[in-house]
Amino acid sequence: MRVLVIGGAGYIGSHVVKALLNDREEKHEVTVFDNLSSGLRENLFKEAAFIEGDILDYDVLKKAMEGQDALIHLAAFKAAGESMIYPEKYSVNNITGTLNILNAACETGVKYFVFSSSAATYGEPAYLPIDEEHPKKPTNYYGFTKLEIERFLGWYDRLKGIKYAALRYFNAAGYDPEGVVCGLEKNPANLLPVVMETAVGMRPEVKVFGNDYDTPDGTGVRDYVHVTDLADAHVKSLHYIVRHQESLAVNLGSENGISVDEMIKATRKITGQPVQSVYVERRAGDPAKLVASSKKAKELLNWHPRYSDVDTLVKTTWDAYCKNKR
Ligand code: WQD
Repeated sequence: MRVLVIGGAGYIGSHVVKALLNDREEKHEVTVFDNLSSGLRENLFKEAAFIEGDILDYDVLKKAMEGQDALIHLAAFKAAGESMIYPEKYSVNNITGTLNILNAACETGVKYFVFSSSAATYGEPAYLPIDEEHPKKPTNYYGFTKLEIERFLGWYDRLKGIKYAALRYFNAAGYDPEGVVCGLEKNPANLLPVVMETAVGMRPEVKVFGNDYDTPDGTGVRDYVHVTDLADAHVKSLHYIVRHQESLAVNLGSENGISVDEMIKATRKITGQPVQSVYVERRAGDPAKLVASSKKAKELLNWHPRYSDVDTLVKTTWDAYCKNKR
């Protein structure tokens, strides 16, 4: 298939491009479309074409979509905290940008749309593990934008025949186990990169946001899913929507809860570095525990995470940080 990966120079996008290029079931002609605002040139593959462009530039976008069979859209802002301070930014990029993509897909006849959605569409957990039927009440504007886009996708499916896969990621982490993709995100705020920056000496300590949660060690528990497992799910879901001519929305998580302290301890063990940490106040809006049920993705897509255990998450991230230090 001819596949346009929008946001394909980013952290998750570049792993998706690699998975598409290595798809054993089908050959793909891959084009990356990225404005390089957070994507990195070093994440580009020579086997994939590259168009530097912005999803807000409708004409450039439409031109890039001409002749494509499918698109994978990962070009969004994703900092939940920031979205509560600058919602305008998220409205323009995440909502207007995606509507541009959807309208350009209609104009150019692109029928298949894989969308990077988020567990942030659910909000505060009413029960665990979270399955796809869980109430959707986002607690931050970022999650709201992802949920709205899923709703637009539902309408464009009914009205225009676009088949989509909405992939609700839990906490994406880790790096390519083969070490091919190793571009580090700029200004990371997520736990594992913060822990790694401490391990390499870029930060003095990890601030652990709360140790009085109702969890076994008191620190927050999340479902970390390896980015290579996520990438594999993009390829599998693309096959699914094409073969079944049916849209789907699935959770992508490891179904395994890891606490902040467990992540730090695993990093000390694997890196041999001290990784100082200090307990500070809870971060506003953080639930105690989030764990996915990925039963649906397993059943429908035959998706099975292979790299999402804590040691592999930490080891592959450490390897990427060590490569960049050299
Ligand atoms: C993980 C845990 C923190 C940093 C975010 C988005 C969400 C989704 C995934 C994409 C929590 C703790 C963190 C630190 C810490 N994104 N922590 N010290 O908030 O679970 O989810 O990424 O869709 O929408 O909100 O991820 O990595 O920020 O936090 O103690 O310096 O680590 O409190 O328990 P989060 P995170």
